[in-house]
Order: sequence, then C-alpha cells, then structure tokens
Amino acid sequence: DGDAPYDVDPFKLASKDLSPFTDTIKELVESEHPVLSMAAKHFFEKRHGKRFRPTIVALMALATCDKPMEAHRESEEYTRQGQLGQITEMIHVASLIHDDVLDEAEVRRGGMAVHKLYSNKVAVLAGDYLLARASVLLARLGDVQVVEIMATALDSLVQGEIMQLKMDPEKLLDISLYLRKSYYKTASLITNACKSCAILGGHEFDSDVATAAEEYGYHMGLAFQIVDDILDIVGAADVLGKPAMADMSLGLATAPILYAAENAPEIKKIVKRRFKKEGDKEKALKAVLDGDAVARSRELARWHAQRAVDAVLRLPPSEARNGLVNICHIVLTRNK
Ligand code: FPP
Ligand code: FPP
Ligand code: MG
Ligand code: MG
Repeated sequence: DGDAPYDVDPFKLASKDLSPFTDTIKELVESEHPVLSMAAKHFFEKRHGKRFRPTIVALMALATCDKPMEAHRESEEYTRQGQLGQITEMIHVASLIHDDVLDEAEVRRGGMAVHKLYSNKVAVLAGDYLLARASVLLARLGDVQVVEIMATALDSLVQGEIMQLKMDPEKLLDISLYLRKSYYKTASLITNACKSCAILGGHEFDSDVATAAEEYGYHMGLAFQIVDDILDIVGAADVLGKPAMADMSLGLATAPILYAAENAPEIKKIVKRRFKKEGDKEKALKAVLDGDAVARSRELARWHAQRAVDAVLRLPPSEARNGLVNICHIVLTRNK
C-alpha cells in the first residue's frame, strides 16, 4: 500500500496509443443496419468505460519490444498490436451487453444497458454483431496462433458464465473453483490478449517474454476480480451504510464469503442455498465483517498482484513496464 512504486501514470502513458481508437472503431462497427451500429457504437463513443484492456495491451506492446518506445510506435508489429487492443475491447463490450441481459441489469457505465435502451433481441444481436466483427478483424491479423489464443478466450468467457449459473451446491464452497471461475470470467480475456500481444511482437509462443506477458495478465486479472468482489461487500457497507451486495443477491459467494464460511456451518448452508432465505445476506455480511475474511481476501488479492509484478519485472526495464507495475498497485488500492 501507499504510493505507486514508479513515477509514471500508466493511463497517461498509453493515452497516445489509444487516441486513434475512437475514430477507427466507429468504422469497424459500421453496419448496414443502423440499429446495430447504434447499439454497438454507443459503448465506444460517449460511454467508452475505462479502456483497461486496450491500455494494458498497448503498454504490453511497448514493454515487450526491443526498440525505444517511439520507434516501436512506427512499426508494423505495433499497428497489429493496436488492432488486437481494439479487438479485445470489442469482445469485452460484447460480453457486457450480453451479461446485462443475463443479469437483468438495467445500468451500465452510468447509463441504461443496451437491452433497456432497445430490447433484449437487439442486445443479443448487437453483442453477436460485435463478436462477429471482432472475429473478422482477428482473422485479418493473419496469425493463426493468435486466432486460436483469442478464440480460447471467448470459450473461457462462456465457460465462466455457465459455471457461475450452474454450479453444483457443494462446489459453491470451493475457493479453487471460485478462482477458476474468476479466471474464465474476468482474467482469461486479458491473459490471452497479453500473450497474443507478445506473439504479434515477434516472440515465440513458449518464449520467456510471451510467458511473462501471459502470467502478468493472469495474476493481474485475478487480483482485479478479487478486489471487485471485496468492494461489492465492503464498499457497499461503507458507502451506503447498508449493503447493496449485488453478488449475494445474484446467489454468488465470492472470496470474503467463502473465507467466512470456512468454520461456520450456518454460513455454509446459506451459501449452498444461494442466500435465498430472508435474512441470509445479513447473516453472511455479519460473519464477513466480524472475522478476518476481508483481510484474508485482501491478502489473496495482494498475492496475485505481487505475482503479476514479479512476472512483468522479468521483461527488460522500460517506462511501459513500470506502468504495468503501477497498474497492479492501482488495482489493489482502488476503492470503487
Ligand atoms: C461481467 O461480470 C461479465 C463478464 C466478465 C463476462 C460475460 C460473458 C458472457 C455473457 C458470455 C458471452 C460472451 C461473449 C463474448 C458474447 P459481472 O456480471 O460479474 O460484472 P458486472 O457487475 O460488470 O455486470
Ligand atoms: C466491467 O469491466 C466488469 C466486468 C467485465 C466484471 C469483471 C471485470 C473486472 C473486474 C475488470 C477486470 C479488468 C482487467 C484489466 C482484467 P470494466 O470494469 O473494465 O468496465 P468498463 O469497460 O466499463 O470500464
Ligand atoms: Mg453483470
Ligand atoms: Mg454477470
């Protein structure tokens, strides 16, 4: 905790790489049918989100090259790495549009979800459409290995969702399954994008550089999700004075709950019935806040963030690399 390890703002550093983003993405999602382009474009213009993934891909491109930053930005490899960043964000947005249908969530990025703005049918098709466009662009990169890696990321996203939806009640208590689900749902896309980025930069699949990039994405993505899960419980309790606890309302037990359930048979039962009974959420919240469940969850997030730092420090020193280290710090210290 405390200050970031390096004096570099990763988002500022990558802002130069992301500035062509908005213009080209508009063309990329242009379709013959205006409602599709409108629904799809929406999330790349006004409500573009944090662009976490393209930022990380851009920094990874700069951190894994053997040229000075400015020279790499002129290269052919870099152009394709930038396109990979766009593809990654398109996949991410497609998954969010579908996710809001599945979760019946009305709000996304501070505005109405696509299925609320239009309809479920349009939201399903808009997500499919973005995914289709992303696939075309991915194929156009002309690297079969990268196509396979990114297709695996798509597979993982769906696996994560189905795991979350249809987990056997006994397994709900298993922290290693929670981590696997978190990998599929959250970390897989950035893991595979980081690896693909290194490959597009000319590194072999099994090279030290590609492996370091992949490990960075894996551990940073998991740390991010664990922090997200802590904030869902603690942030809500802090800010509102009363818990919002969206995850429990969806029947989901995350790291803090699983730790609190370890030696508490009653909480175990609550998890298995997915917080369905009146008062379940309040009891689970109390168990979390009374014990060391939050501290242990933070420790778990910290461990993964440190592993991400260790991985990226295997790359040669550069400003971009330091930016990637600072991202791990930001992930741990964010409070919303
Ligand atoms: C958000 O999680 C959702 C995801 C990380 C992935 C959703 C994936 C699918 C719907 C599978 C379909 C995939 C594609 C590529 C179309 P969350 O609901 O926990 O987070 P939230 O609070 O942001 O909604
Ligand atoms: C929206 O993504 C939220 C989700 C898809 C849920 C899980 C994802 C995270 C907790 C973020 C993981 C980030 C990395 C880099 C692995 P978002 O919070 O990125 O939303 P935005 O695109 O709207 O900013
Ligand atoms: Mg959701
Ligand atoms: Mg969801």
